[in-house]
Amino acid sequence: MCGIVGCIGNRSVTPIIVESLKRLEYRGYDSAGIATLNGAEIDITKTEGKIADLENILSLTNTACVGIGHTRWATHGIPSSTNAHPHADCSGSFAVVHNGIIENFQALKDELTSKGHIFSSETDTEVLAHLCEDCYNGDLESAVREALLRVEGSYAIAVISDNEPDVIVAARKDSPLIVGLGDGENFLASDIPAIRKYTNKVMYINDGEIVRLTRDNVTVSTLQGVNVERLVTIVDGSVQDAERGGYEHFMLKEIHEQPKALRDTMEDRLCELEGSIDFKELRPFEDEIKNIEGITIIACGTSYHAGILGKYALEDLLRIPVKVEYSSEFRYNNFLSGNRSLAICISQSGETADTLAAMNEAKAQGYLTLAITNVVGSTITRKADEILLTKSGMEIGVAATKTFTAQILTLYMLGIYVARLKKLIDVETSRHIITSMKSVPGLIESLLDNISDIEKASSRICEADCCYFIGRGLSYPIALEGALKMKEISYIKAEGFPAGELKHGPLALITAGTPVIAIVPKGKTYYKTLGNIKEVKARNAFVIAIANASDDEIVKYVDSVIKIPDIDELFSPMLAAVVLQLLAYYAAKDIGAEIDQPRNLAKSVTVE
Ligand code: G6P
Repeated sequence: MCGIVGCIGNRSVTPIIVESLKRLEYRGYDSAGIATLNGAEIDITKTEGKIADLENILSLTNTACVGIGHTRWATHGIPSSTNAHPHADCSGSFAVVHNGIIENFQALKDELTSKGHIFSSETDTEVLAHLCEDCYNGDLESAVREALLRVEGSYAIAVISDNEPDVIVAARKDSPLIVGLGDGENFLASDIPAIRKYTNKVMYINDGEIVRLTRDNVTVSTLQGVNVERLVTIVDGSVQDAERGGYEHFMLKEIHEQPKALRDTMEDRLCELEGSIDFKELRPFEDEIKNIEGITIIACGTSYHAGILGKYALEDLLRIPVKVEYSSEFRYNNFLSGNRSLAICISQSGETADTLAAMNEAKAQGYLTLAITNVVGSTITRKADEILLTKSGMEIGVAATKTFTAQILTLYMLGIYVARLKKLIDVETSRHIITSMKSVPGLIESLLDNISDIEKASSRICEADCCYFIGRGLSYPIALEGALKMKEISYIKAEGFPAGELKHGPLALITAGTPVIAIVPKGKTYYKTLGNIKEVKARNAFVIAIANASDDEIVKYVDSVIKIPDIDELFSPMLAAVVLQLLAYYAAKDIGAEIDQPRNLAKSVTVE
């Protein structure tokens, strides 16, 4: 995790770096710092806390035109101003910001200490600053290169030195890094939105590459010193994407953006009349996809929950086995050969370290790899065999919302696409599914127009110290996601269970008044879930049901009902997900939690 930025130009870089760090704060926000270089010496300011805390202590009169910055999510060493980046060497001549983990830092630290280097922090990163000092022989780029050749682990780093006041050197291995090209100024950052305000011209830096930035020039070379020609990409996406646009929180804005995100994700892909999905990007792989005999879905967090839903839908449509694995587990399992198998790797950010590593493993085992991601140009898009983009627009709130429903939609579209390729469903059936699919954005809009029941239910949940989410079949992954949303942002203890599993343990947790949120849309498992609701009611739980608008029966069995519009069972999870996002949002708001930046979490987990 962590976010890094750098800027070299002809104007004061402090405000630019602060602004860019604010846009990277979703990557970590327990401490932050900035190092500027005014031609003669390096000045470092850092603090525990958020970018706003850093801003409060920064000198407004700093006119330095070269600088690097960092927002941290602690891995090695507690969040503190000492452990905050940038880190300097003994002489204060080198300053380094780093995103990643230096795995052999202890051995390097011991060696450098024995040479007389004095360390001041508990971080792994500090060894990089001392290594640069140790390797410096008149050329910063060579020193960084030499230092990195000794390092094991992952990194995106930026280094400045008072020996060369008009240069920033940066490098990457397994952590994201992009360069932005301006007019008489150049930038680097962990992602594009951080610098989008200043330029739309970017260069993607690859693993094992070093980049040297001056005001007027950017050169890229490999760690081994071979020069690399890198194309400049013009990016779109407006700067406004990164603004709250009148909403109190990014999360609320992003919940409300779901209809648009879904419409954009469907656009140009749905062929209702033909009952088919046009995934132009998959055409070169049609033969391989047609012959797929098994699928493994790999993801973390919310993307994993979309994956479970994908499993149910894909198995139903394709009649082949679909497994869902946590990325962090898959990469260390003894999995079987991926011959004639597809690995679908889901990651909204496209940068989750575990998912990237799992995808590499899958590739090595012979799987055809397909990435579903929301971020154009992210690492996953450059490593997967095939890519399907969700078109949700930038998501800033740490708790994923609009990207979740867009992932589900994309998995469903993929199911129809493959089912048609394999001739497993007829035009009539797929046309029917597509018609329902098209109605989802409008139904979410109507749901968002009337949220008073959700607000009421959330205040009831806030009165308790824990709550449980239950569902069966397609509603089970939504129960998991509802619980995840709740714990992520409101810190209320929340667990999701398959409703049928209650009697195998979780029922012991139910006491009088315990809130149980039952996701119970009409469908195959409706009456079974109703049975489970009765079980918890018999233990005096306070049951909040999420049920269809036309369900007049449910009110007899529960304490409170939140209605979702009627739709095909396959799509109810998308509507229920929106309810659960709002339920968590209002619970967090009641409690006064920091919704967009929950404690200890980060949006993009770029370390293992
Ligand atoms: C973090 C975020 C979650 C997200 C997960 C996977 O934990 O806080 O919201 O679901 O990473 O992220 P990805 O970008 O791979 O979907």
